[in-house]
Order: sequence, then C-alpha cells, then structure tokens
Amino acid sequence: MKSLFRNSIFFILALSAVSCFDSSRPNYQYMPNMQEPVSYEPYGAYDVFVNQQEAKLPVEGTIPRGWEPYDYENNPDGFSTAKTELQNPLPYTEENLNKGKALYTIYCAVCHGDQGDGKGILVQNEKILGIPRYDDAGRAITEGGVYHVQYYGLNAMGSYASQTSIEERWLITHYVMKLKNDLEGGAEREFETEEDLIPAVNADKQMESKETSTTGEEENQIEE
Ligand code: HEC
Repeated sequence: MKSLFRNSIFFILALSAVSCFDSSRPNYQYMPNMQEPVSYEPYGAYDVFVNQQEAKLPVEGTIPRGWEPYDYENNPDGFSTAKTELQNPLPYTEENLNKGKALYTIYCAVCHGDQGDGKGILVQNEKILGIPRYDDAGRAITEGGVYHVQYYGLNAMGSYASQTSIEERWLITHYVMKLKNDLEGGAEREFETEEDLIPAVNADKQMESKETSTTGEEENQIEE
C-alpha cells in the first residue's frame, strides 16, 4: 500500500514535469542570464545607440590595432615606386630563408614552380598560362616589387594580403629573390650573422681589437 502511494506520487510529479511542455513555444528559462548575455549582442539593436545599432563603423582615419598601412597605391605608378624604393626589412638569415621557402611552397609554388621557373603544377596541367620566370629580364624583379604583387596581386595573380602577414610576405620575398638569383646563376648570397645584425656587438669587437693592437701586433693578427 505504502509503495503504491509512493509510486503514484512519482507518477504525478513526472506527469506535471512533462505536461506543461509545449514544443511549439520556448520553454521556461530557469537561469536566463546563462542564455541571454548581460552585455550587448554584437549585432543587436538597442535604444542606447545611435540608429539602435550596436555594431559601429570605425571612426574615420583610424586603423585596426596591429595593422600597418601600406604606402604604395595599387596602380602602375605605385608598383614602379615600390619596385625601386621598397626594401626588405628582415635580415637575410638561414632561418628566415627556410621559413620563406616553406611559405613559398604553400602559396606560390603551384603556379611559379619550386624553382621559380614558372612551371608549377597548375601550369603543367594547363590550368593557367602566362606565369613568368623570376629571372625574366624584361621584368627585372626587385624585392619591393615582389612584396607589392603579394600585397595587391597582379592581373591573373591574386592578392595574398589576407592569407599572409607583413612579416610572412617579406620572408617569402627573401626566398623569391634567392630563386631569381639561382635562375640567373648568380653567386650564393651570404647569410647575415648575428654580428652584422647587432652593430653594438660589432663595435665592441672592434674596440677590443684596437685595445689588443696597442699591446702587440701579433695578438691582433691572430684575432683577425
Ligand atoms: C594562380 C597562380 C599564381 C600564384 C599562386 C602566384 N602567382 Fe605570382 N604571378 C602569377 C601571374 C599570372 C603573374 C604575371 C602577372 C602579370 O604580369 O600579368 C605573376 C607574377 C608574379 C611576379 C612578377 C611581378 C613583376 O615584377 O612583374 C612575382 C614576383 C610573383 N608573381 C610572385 C608571387 C609570389 C611571391 C606568390 C606567392 C605568395 C605568387 N606569385 C603566387 C600567378 C600566380
């Protein structure tokens, strides 16, 4: 008798829990704050904002944090100025060249080929035409130009500005200039060493060798 009573209590409780549920309407919210944020929704409409619009356009003349404006325009003039003026700010080290090679292989080799000879896989499969060799004399490719075409693209070549960072584009540029040099049969460019990169270290070394030269010529010669 006792267990029958207990069972029926359970039954009524369970029934009351499901009976109020209407699948065509939203259910009760026990803790609405967990579902509905206290802060404003990014694209919500609220009276406190002008036009009720939470999402705002950036103030004119401002730039996103971490973004740097690129000074050269996307026209033949901008291209030729970038080609002559713009220089790679990254040191030419083995590490940078290897990083550039990896990125080049991902983004550029499909068209330009692993050697930069314009015979990438897409060219071999006749999916695209008109890919230049990097040693094309008529183009006289420079590092500024390589950066510029990655930034804006050039005719059939798309822009890589959204896939790559400023640094990555310069890393790729180092590698493209190496490929160009190899195609032209130029002498291997020497890597910059730590001493080249930190002038202070260099200056210290020179000071040292000057000091030793006062104590004795031979010692100085050994150092050199
Ligand atoms: C979809 C194929 C394609 C890919 C991928 C591609 N390019 Fe190109 N690239 C071209 C074509 C086509 C041209 C010739 C454009 C023209 O002059 O009309 C070109 C031209 C160039 C030039 C010559 C610019 C000059 O000074 O005349 C450089 C340098 C270059 N690309 C670098 C790159 C780099 C670096 C990448 C990778 C980030 C890349 N390309 C990826 C198709 C491609």
